[in-house]
Amino acid sequence: MLKKILITGITGNIGAYTAGQLLKKGHTVVAIARSRSKMVEDAFLKKTLKSLSQFSGDETMVDEALKEGRLVVLKGDISDPASIAALELPFSIDETWHFASSLKYMPKDNEEITEANITGVKNILSLHDRFRSAEARFVYISTAYIGGKNMHVVPEAVIDMDERLSFNNEYERTKLLAENIVREFSEQKDMGYCIFRPSIVIGEKFTGRLVNYNGFYLGLKAFHTLNEYLAKPDGTKTRLRFESNPDNTLNLIPIDDVDALMQKIIETNPPSGSVFNITNGTETRIGDILNIINSSLSNLEIQISSKEAFMAEPRNRNEKMLAYGFNYVLPYLNQDIQFTTDSVVSQTGSGYALALIPDHLRFYINHYLKRLSRKTEASGVVQS
Ligand SMILES: NC(=O)c1ccc[n+]([C@@H]2O[C@H](COP(=O)([O-])OP(=O)(O)OC[C@H]3O[C@@H](n4cnc5c(N)ncnc54)[C@H](OP(=O)(O)O)[C@@H]3O)[C@@H](O)[C@H]2O)c1
Repeated sequence: MLKKILITGITGNIGAYTAGQLLKKGHTVVAIARSRSKMVEDAFLKKTLKSLSQFSGDETMVDEALKEGRLVVLKGDISDPASIAALELPFSIDETWHFASSLKYMPKDNEEITEANITGVKNILSLHDRFRSAEARFVYISTAYIGGKNMHVVPEAVIDMDERLSFNNEYERTKLLAENIVREFSEQKDMGYCIFRPSIVIGEKFTGRLVNYNGFYLGLKAFHTLNEYLAKPDGTKTRLRFESNPDNTLNLIPIDDVDALMQKIIETNPPSGSVFNITNGTETRIGDILNIINSSLSNLEIQISSKEAFMAEPRNRNEKMLAYGFNYVLPYLNQDIQFTTDSVVSQTGSGYALALIPDHLRFYINHYLKRLSRKTEASGVVQS
């Protein structure tokens, strides 16, 4: 059945990817995008079309969908209640996919994070409620990392917001609070909903591409910056200790697999209130990631050290810089978190089986590091 689908966050990674796939399948998409340019009136439209074409790789399909009225782009800022309340959708909708979110995690951005993730979800729930068809469903995109500091196994169920929970950052807290808000609103209004929780999203398989290199890539960027900064005339490497445990893991999942799993699940018409951890069946070892980084960076030799080792021998200046770059990512590198996937498996019959072997990882890491090197060279920052 072809559906009319409201999408937020269409200029971001997963929103752009999913919207492109939905348009390819023939669905109608109405997207909400913001504009921060006061100069260009249709900047939000241009940005949306660029992200969509870049990801779907099909500019003609995007242009045609726009001409046919199967793609409608409306200007709206999800953090601003008036901006969303003023929107009039051209038709009633069968589904809303709410991707838009602030992915920042620094305390200085807490206000912006709360507005985007809490005020934002409330505004989009109200918009969905105003324009939904009788059987419409609200799909909230959360994160698998909602468990905070104390949860080691993340279940596929909404965890009640509780003041005893302790979070690594405001992003985590607001994503869990938003899940609670979606559940409460939907139950009050007798409205269908489901929640998808991707783990750490990496680029598309075979191309490595993303619209925004956020999350996992910010850590790579910190290594790359230091690698440029610590280049020595004699070509020797600087040894730096990095706090983690080589056997700790991260759950990385390519964006096309995130989309494929979500689409497969939605097509099975899951019961309202379902929660799905969209994760990779195979975790990636921190030790494997750092081995690849070491072989790719010419000026650094990173060595994993324990917290105790740093207590015995405090960080030197360069190690402090590295730790600063990783400030808010460190908890994830020092916490072993597992995710249940029973609901995904029971809904899809299989779940996710592709293991990210070191060769795949090398491809992803090098794709991004090369991209950064091209950028630094183009800006002339690099010293020969
Ligand atoms: N990337 C990951 O590793 C990951 C992992 C787990 C879960 N998730 C979740 O997946 C969803 C999408 O993530 P992503 O990686 O695609 O993020 P992204 O690339 O950073 O995109 C975020 C999107 O949200 C939009 N947005 C933010 N604030 C907005 C506002 N006030 N009004 C309107 N639009 C606003 C952005 O628009 P602009 O272009 O205008 O900024 C952009 O389209 C998020 O809910 C995130 O929490 C992501």
